[in-house]
Amino acid sequence: MVIDQFFPPTLFQGKTVFITGGGSGINLGVARHFAALGAQLAICGRTQDKLDTAARELRELNAHTGGRVLPVVADVRDAAALDAAFERTKAELGPIDVLVCGAAGNFLCPAEALSPNGFRTVIDIDLQGAFQSSRGAFEQLKATRGCLLFISAGQAFVPQAYQLHVAAAKAGIDIMMKNLAVEWGRHGIRANSIVPGPIEGTEGLKRLSNPAFDEVNKKSIPLRAYGTPDDIGQAAVFLASPLARMITGQVIGVDGGSNLVGSALWNEQVESLPLRAKA
Ligand code: COA
Ligand code: NAP
Repeated sequence: MVIDQFFPPTLFQGKTVFITGGGSGINLGVARHFAALGAQLAICGRTQDKLDTAARELRELNAHTGGRVLPVVADVRDAAALDAAFERTKAELGPIDVLVCGAAGNFLCPAEALSPNGFRTVIDIDLQGAFQSSRGAFEQLKATRGCLLFISAGQAFVPQAYQLHVAAAKAGIDIMMKNLAVEWGRHGIRANSIVPGPIEGTEGLKRLSNPAFDEVNKKSIPLRAYGTPDDIGQAAVFLASPLARMITGQVIGVDGGSNLVGSALWNEQVESLPLRAKA
């Protein structure tokens, strides 16, 4: 991480950042950046061990401000569990200044083989979960004049084979984000989406791509590289910082330009991957 060479390491001292799905991958990369800039953090997910391991790492990163890290188990599909997580966060860390909605589920599945419950499951985690998180955190964000960040995906605006469910969920997130920016702007709350491109070392990339295609994929991306969780963390702290005080309602790609070149990148390789059910 190089973030403290650019931003003061106490930028988020005394601020509380709640990250759904914060125990792994891209969202953990986001958590690391807020921790390095002194925030206290609540990270939520369904798996206690994963959250505990992440929390130990994050506590080393925010030790310089005495910030705390709270691992809190909650399924974002369960509004009551989320509300309890937000209350506990407020009691232990103070009201939420930044909510990052990053929890998501994904798998490759041809449209005709996707069961109604398979579609609903991804909508429930990604879209309904992001709504319930935003709604549940609203009073705290209003009190802090805080900000919302959603982790979207290029599938929201570039159709991709076997990703109909994710496309619907993430497109829903992006338009919901814009509605929240309009409605909650009067409270000083900002809302933005970050759209990662392919991010190396992540569960998402593992599920959607064949490593045998990595080199050709990278050559197809305008900046000729996959991103890293650090790239998303850097964008997130910028968007939550006072430098971005007039940025709201925006969908911001952090993708090396990959979404400019469409989905041809993926169509051939998904055919080479095992599918659980193929009609
Ligand atoms: N292909 C087709 N359908 C699938 C599938 C696959 N690979 N995996 C799950 N489904 C379907 C199931 O069959 C089920 O539908 P059904 O009742 O009609 O059979 C439905 O999706 C729910 O599956 P279930 O395993 O009960 O869901 P879950 O809530 O336990 O897990 C997932 C949610 C499926 C999204 C799981 O992959 C997950 O937990 N993912 C989190 C991590 C992740 O995806 N990371 C990448 C983020 S981009
Ligand atoms: P990941 O590590 O699997 O991250 C997803 C996180 O969400 C996990 O920590 C998971 O933990 C949690 N989660 C899943 N279902 C949940 C639920 N119902 N309730 C609460 N938490 C839940 O995958 P990732 O690839 O880093 O993806 C992170 C985000 O980036 C996602 O929003 C994804 O859509 C987006 N994205 C990824 C890429 C990429 O290249 N990887 C590209 C574009 C966008 P538990 O399973 O323990 O609950």
